[in-house]
Amino acid sequence: MKTLPREWLEEIINLLNERIVVVNRKGIILYMDKAYCDFIDTTQDEVIGLPIQEVVENSRMHIVARTGKEEIQELQPINNSVMVANRFPIVIDGNIEGAVGTVMFSDPEKLRMYRNHIQQLVNDIRYYRSAAEKNMKSKYTFHDLLGESPVFKKLKDFAKVISGNDSSILITGESGTGKELFANAIHNSSFRDQNPFVPVNCAAIPEELLESELFGYEDGAFTGAKKGGKKGLFEIANNGTIFLDEIGDMSLSMQSKLLRALQEREILPVGGQKIISIDVRIIAATHRDLENMVREGTFRQDLFYRINVINIDIPPLRMRKEDIPLLSEMLIRKLERKFYRQNVAISPEVLKRFYQHTWPGNVRELENVLERAINVLENKTIELHDLPLYLKEPKLEDTYTVKQKTKNNHNQFIVTSIPIQPLKDTMATVERQAIKEMLAFTDGNKLKAAKLLGIAKTSLYDKCKMYDIK
Ligand SMILES: Nc1ncnc2c1ncn2[C@@H]1O[C@H](COP(=O)(O)OP(=O)(O)OP(=O)(O)O)[C@@H](O)[C@H]1O
Ligand SMILES: [Mg+2]
Repeated sequence: MKTLPREWLEEIINLLNERIVVVNRKGIILYMDKAYCDFIDTTQDEVIGLPIQEVVENSRMHIVARTGKEEIQELQPINNSVMVANRFPIVIDGNIEGAVGTVMFSDPEKLRMYRNHIQQLVNDIRYYRSAAEKNMKSKYTFHDLLGESPVFKKLKDFAKVISGNDSSILITGESGTGKELFANAIHNSSFRDQNPFVPVNCAAIPEELLESELFGYEDGAFTGAKKGGKKGLFEIANNGTIFLDEIGDMSLSMQSKLLRALQEREILPVGGQKIISIDVRIIAATHRDLENMVREGTFRQDLFYRINVINIDIPPLRMRKEDIPLLSEMLIRKLERKFYRQNVAISPEVLKRFYQHTWPGNVRELENVLERAINVLENKTIELHDLPLYLKEPKLEDTYTVKQKTKNNHNQFIVTSIPIQPLKDTMATVERQAIKEMLAFTDGNKLKAAKLLGIAKTSLYDKCKMYDIK
């Protein structure tokens, strides 16, 4: 305080939203800030030295200066307005020396303005929330799911058939394979299509909020809870579909609560007494290997069985490279609309490079590569030099193809291109992938990842550095 110039103190007090008056033990005014003086139509020179009762009607400052008992948030009428007053005794070295009083909002008009403003915001939120609830319709249909490869067509047909029944579905597949798109399409061709489709990203909602987000809460369930409580996403999804995305990222304790809701088909809002029945179809999705998580004890087996009634396992793009031309074509049409371009084409060299690439980010990666290309495109045709660096450089190795039976053994084969390269490069690729996946599984916890990989922590650090894994 010693370093603060006196004029500053004065100015700081003037900037506050509260007005201040200081009296001595006898109730004589020692200080009253300028705005306070203005408000009661007087000046500092006039009031300093006068008893407070003579200046402020109904003042109790002299009483507080005598009794030493603070008075908090008392309503005090001043100049025909009701103000909120706080009065504190000033105690120095154990003796009551005087009192300081504050009144909120020098200008009651301001208080009204604040209140109206906040009320307006609350009304807006209410309006948008109900509009959002009405708009929770899924947007995509099977028509938007592109792919002509036999594996993809078969999967799409299967998904169409099972849309009609009401079983829970688990959609698995690498990142960017179209899990969310499938979930949308299934809902849209089910009998629930006129009711809400409510996506929930279980990985994005903080653990401590997930329960109240899913099940809602009752009035006053916790500090900061909205008055009147809040509807949970399950209740909003009633008669429709809830899409539990990234379900592999849900904590074990939350998994138990979810399991109970699914088994009983009813929910209990946080802090609530009243159980609510729900009729909701569950579609869950994850890029994680849930079976493996069950084995390791990080995902509940009973919950796994409950959601995995039907499994839709979307093959990665590298297993259905025949889909690349059609997907590229349709994605370009979509991007043309977005960027106001027309008749954009792809050169044969680019398509060839697309066939060689392994697409770890799947369709999303393809979409990103094309979007970037269209952005930098000078002419009408996407050429190699329009691609990002990692795709631009011609690969030294060539590829060979192998035929594999599909996972579900539908007497179908997948043709995969495998790069011809030295064994040590293949090993490095596999090692890098394994480390990346393990780190994703442990949420970036290197110590845990090293343990699970059975290598020393230092060795993991070295490898991360070598493979440029963040
Ligand atoms: N078969 C497809 N046809 C057309 N577009 C697709 C197809 N598959 C994926 N896409 C597009 O790729 C992008 C990624 O799809 P989506 O978000 O459904 O993937 P995801 O599997 O949920 O990925 P993540 O695991 O990362 O959440 C979207 O823009 C989607 O429109
Ligand atoms: Mg997704």
